[in-house]
Amino acid sequence: MMKAKGVSVRKVQVAYGAVQVIKEMDLEIAPGEFIVLLGASGCGKSTLLSVIAGLRDVTAGQIWIGDQNVTWAEPKDRDIGMVFQSYALYPQMTVRGNLSFGLRMAGAPKAVIEARVTEAAAVLQLSHLLDRKPKALSGGQRQRVAIGRALVRQAGVFLFDEPLSNLDAKLRTELRAELKRLHRELGTTMIFVTHDQIEALTLADRIAVMEGGVIRQIGTPKEIYRTPANRFVAGFIGSPGMNFFDGKVVLDPEPRFIGPGFELPLKGYAFTTPQAGKATLGLRPEHVGIRPQGAHPQFTTALTSVEPMGAETLLWGKLGEAPLSIRVDTLTGLDEAPALTFEIDPALVSLFGEDGQRL
Ligand SMILES: Nc1ncnc2c1ncn2[C@@H]1O[C@H](COP(=O)(O)OP(=O)(O)O)[C@@H](O)[C@H]1O
Ligand SMILES: [Mg+2]
Repeated sequence: MMKAKGVSVRKVQVAYGAVQVIKEMDLEIAPGEFIVLLGASGCGKSTLLSVIAGLRDVTAGQIWIGDQNVTWAEPKDRDIGMVFQSYALYPQMTVRGNLSFGLRMAGAPKAVIEARVTEAAAVLQLSHLLDRKPKALSGGQRQRVAIGRALVRQAGVFLFDEPLSNLDAKLRTELRAELKRLHRELGTTMIFVTHDQIEALTLADRIAVMEGGVIRQIGTPKEIYRTPANRFVAGFIGSPGMNFFDGKVVLDPEPRFIGPGFELPLKGYAFTTPQAGKATLGLRPEHVGIRPQGAHPQFTTALTSVEPMGAETLLWGKLGEAPLSIRVDTLTGLDEAPALTFEIDPALVSLFGEDGQRL
């Protein structure tokens, strides 16, 4: 079976002329880990992936795969398999031919080719399609063949650059689940690039959130969602997005946040660095407590508008003088209510200092 390898990105910089696209980046990926590089278009995800693959040169720093410094190694000598967004299969070859092509070119023995193609086809549920040509396959089946072509190489690290972006929503969800299963079964190291936060949250062991060539936070999906390290990550993750309120933190005699037209005692908030002064409070629409139990500070608002989202509904009201979005299960019937009393559990909010870092 495959031997999963770790990847170490050490002080890597990539520049195009005067433009620094990757800014002195460090990233340690454990063997067998599923890492997702998440960020908006243009933030440097593909560039980072291509320097790991050896398709582009670093301007400074080193790339290690396993215990090898591969910074200047050819792509074929890096023990990687790659799947891109646009998958070019050979149209004149069958699925079997496409899957085995790389191994045949590398001169692998017939029995080895046969065994690996059979295994990859089984894992990807392509066994019954081996004699078909690409034009007789659906988009999802073609993309599975593209993944299979990388898998048969049994590389130490697999790199995926937005491999699901060209598929429709339903197929994307299916293939996402398959990739997750594949990773569990094979235990391979996977580095997966996407701009889709749902893809990142569902697939990743750890997510690296990128902006402008910098990793803004790296952590488990839960850490990134629950304790965003800075204001950027807080706003980037979550849909509909987090509510933000500008105000200040007061620490004496008790910690509290003073916002526009409201005050929130902060009993239960786990400060990283307690600091008085200007701050921003973040509250996710799904963390507004619509069934107050009396344990936390309570507020009342008129409900001014309603955005149905199917199973859930986004209600708009106010916290003090500032707009507040509230995410509720549509079945609650709150979409019909004129007003709402809610509570805020300080343990669920995020606070960011003037520099944007979590307090
Ligand atoms: N060959 C190139 N020459 C100059 N600039 C480039 C080149 N390739 C990418 N860039 C720039 O580098 C930045 C990062 O690109 P890329 O890594 O493709 O981002 P992402 O994959 O996150 O969308 C972008 O601003 C892009 O315009
Ligand atoms: Mg890209």
